[in-house]
Amino acid sequence: MIRLPAPVLEGSISIEASLLGRVSTRNYEVESLSLTQLSQLLWAAQGVTRASGQRTAPSAGALYPLEVYVACGHVQGLEVGLYHYQPHGHSLGLVVNTDLRQELASAALGQGSIAQAAVNLVLTAVYERTAAKYGSRASRYVHMEIGHVAQNIYLQAVSLGLGTVVVGAFDDDRVQHLLKLQEEMPLAIMPVGRLPVSGHKMQRER
Ligand SMILES: Cc1cc2nc3c(=O)[nH]c(=O)nc-3n(C[C@H](O)[C@H](O)[C@H](O)COP(=O)(O)O)c2cc1C
Repeated sequence: MIRLPAPVLEGSISIEASLLGRVSTRNYEVESLSLTQLSQLLWAAQGVTRASGQRTAPSAGALYPLEVYVACGHVQGLEVGLYHYQPHGHSLGLVVNTDLRQELASAALGQGSIAQAAVNLVLTAVYERTAAKYGSRASRYVHMEIGHVAQNIYLQAVSLGLGTVVVGAFDDDRVQHLLKLQEEMPLAIMPVGRLPVSGHKMQRER
């Protein structure tokens, strides 16, 4: 279990500036991310914000069907590998210690952003958690929830001066196999990396 640095609760730019700066970016610098930046992205995705267990993103019935995995390539202080985010405890559990970015990119129609990014956040869902209460409306709710989480990651990335894109085009079976998922369905891959200098300028100008 790898304990992550505590999230920073005051950013350097306003929520309005983050919304204005949000744009999908698919090219990143080769540089690594810091563990603090990764910690912040994971907290934005699914961090626990209340003693009652509520999180940064809403969830139907507070049933939390989503899981976040990190395919790490270049993060200072974190070995390459696949990790599973544990919202309670704000920590990472190691799944496998191999760099999966290239294979993940190839499972996603060869999308280069995935291979190039310092890390990829993979968002998965356990539909049964929501279906147990909401039956046939579960898939609608889970899909709404993944959108909330993806947008949180986008906005947090802007605030950190990083770039990301939500990737929905991939082979479900191949991603499931790569991540050793059993009952979970992968729903989105979000590559994250440092913006090239021109990307920074573009974000500021928007
Ligand atoms: C559900 C969904 C799936 C997407 N899948 C991909 C994808 O597989 N690859 C990609 O490069 N962009 C993907 N995108 C990003 C869109 O292409 C992008 O949001 C759109 O072009 C608008 O640009 P903007 O995000 O910069 O405003 C996806 C977006 C959504 C919402």
